[in-house]
Amino acid sequence: MTRKTLYTFFFLLLFTGTGQSAYWRLPPLAAPKEYGNLLINRTSKTHGQKPVTFSHWSHRMQYACRVCHFELPFEMQVNATEITEEANRKGEFCGACHNGKTAFGHTDKNCKKCHNGDRSYGKKKFKKLAKFPKSKFGNKINWVKAVKQGRINPKLSILDESYTPMPYNKLLKLEAEWSMIPDAFFPHEAHNRWLDCSNCHPDIFNIKKKTTKHFAMKYILEGRFCGVCHIDVAFPIDDCRRCHPDMK
Ligand code: HEC
Ligand code: HEC
Ligand code: HEC
Ligand code: HEC
Ligand code: HEC
Ligand code: HEC
Repeated sequence: MTRKTLYTFFFLLLFTGTGQSAYWRLPPLAAPKEYGNLLINRTSKTHGQKPVTFSHWSHRMQYACRVCHFELPFEMQVNATEITEEANRKGEFCGACHNGKTAFGHTDKNCKKCHNGDRSYGKKKFKKLAKFPKSKFGNKINWVKAVKQGRINPKLSILDESYTPMPYNKLLKLEAEWSMIPDAFFPHEAHNRWLDCSNCHPDIFNIKKKTTKHFAMKYILEGRFCGVCHIDVAFPIDDCRRCHPDMK
């Protein structure tokens, strides 16, 4: 038996026997209205404030990832960015928009809109998205279709009105190393509507080194490669067929 058929054998055994989630130990999913919501608490509590609520679904309706994770210096890792209230008030970090013009500012009556420790803050607004195109997991919203249907038109830049992304639409087939496992696909087009090339290259995917052969699900589930986004914010790993379209 070759190594590959042996793997496939174990795979089928485990899959049919215990079910995929037990086999892969997929991380638990938040409720749709809370998927992608964060409580930022690097310094809040130690300074007598409640943790800060931040919702990805509510912000991504108006702004693409690129705005906050490329133009603004937010890390794709909760509590990793050194946000301070002083910098916010100077117009950095949240204050780039929360300045009393684009969005509510850092004034006394607004402290609790951010410092409330409530991950589901803003849930009433979520109900208004009932007519958005559906997906099976995560926010249960198909964000790719929501853009295509014109329900939302998230800004790719807040610094340059005339910014248009570099056209690069190559669809890549990522062959699974296990036989009988349908290939995964990576569409550049769907990603470039939200992200900057440098959000992925070269830190997550180094084209020169060809990381492809390391993309095993084990690593993805550890939050590497596709798992940087497809665990907490973009549609989650549970949605096998969106990446492996021929999977049963
Ligand atoms: C309005 C700003 C904003 C937008 C737009 C935005 N993010 Fe974020 N994102 C943040 C902030 C703030 C954090 C938390 C950073 C911190 O605490 O250091 C974060 C954290 C993350 C994390 C880490 C989550 C975790 O649980 O650790 C991921 C992944 C992420 N963002 C992906 C995305 C993707 C993908 C998009 C586009 C679909 C996006 N973000 C759009 C502001 C934004
Ligand atoms: C738009 C959201 C937002 C608003 C409004 C806001 N803050 Fe913050 N604030 C933050 C974020 C994000 C941090 C970083 C939190 C962390 O890492 O724990 C922060 C940090 C802080 C800290 C921690 C220490 C420091 O100085 O950085 C204090 C204290 C604080 N804010 C007080 C306030 C007060 C008082 C108000 C109202 C006058 C206020 N904040 C309004 C988002 C906000
Ligand atoms: C690129 C612009 C932008 C950035 C950066 C940004 N916000 Fe917002 N935020 C908005 C807009 C626009 C609204 C909706 C308008 C309003 O409520 O004034 C909003 C609304 C909110 C709300 C109200 C609840 C909701 O979902 O409607 C909270 C809470 C909030 N932001 C927290 C934050 C925190 C915390 C940060 C920084 C970690 C942040 N925002 C960074 C633009 C931004
Ligand atoms: C969401 C992440 C992501 C973004 C954003 C992204 N790429 Fe990629 N890119 C990938 C992945 C994954 C691969 C495959 C890497 C591998 O095989 O090791 C890849 C491969 C490539 C390749 C090699 C293609 C081949 O045929 O081998 C080029 C060139 C490339 N990207 C250019 C770009 C450019 C230009 C942009 C911005 C317009 C961009 N990428 C944005 C993830 C991304
Ligand atoms: C965000 C995209 C994405 C999602 C969602 C996804 N996969 Fe994958 N999967 C991949 C990529 C990329 C590879 C690696 C392909 C390669 O070898 O280049 C892969 C590889 C695999 C492999 C081959 C073995 C290995 O670890 O490399 C199996 C089995 C697999 N996936 C099963 C699943 C199942 C079951 C689900 C749903 C629970 C799922 N995948 C969801 C992207 C995804
Ligand atoms: C830096 C963040 C990031 C990384 C890394 C990333 N994605 Fe995505 N991906 C997104 C976002 C954002 C979307 C838009 C849809 C959403 O948010 O649910 C998306 C959409 C997709 C879609 C489009 C589905 C459709 O309905 O058209 C596929 C397929 C996909 N990703 C596969 C992958 C694979 C495979 C990898 C790893 C090789 C990967 N992604 C890595 C952020 C990312």
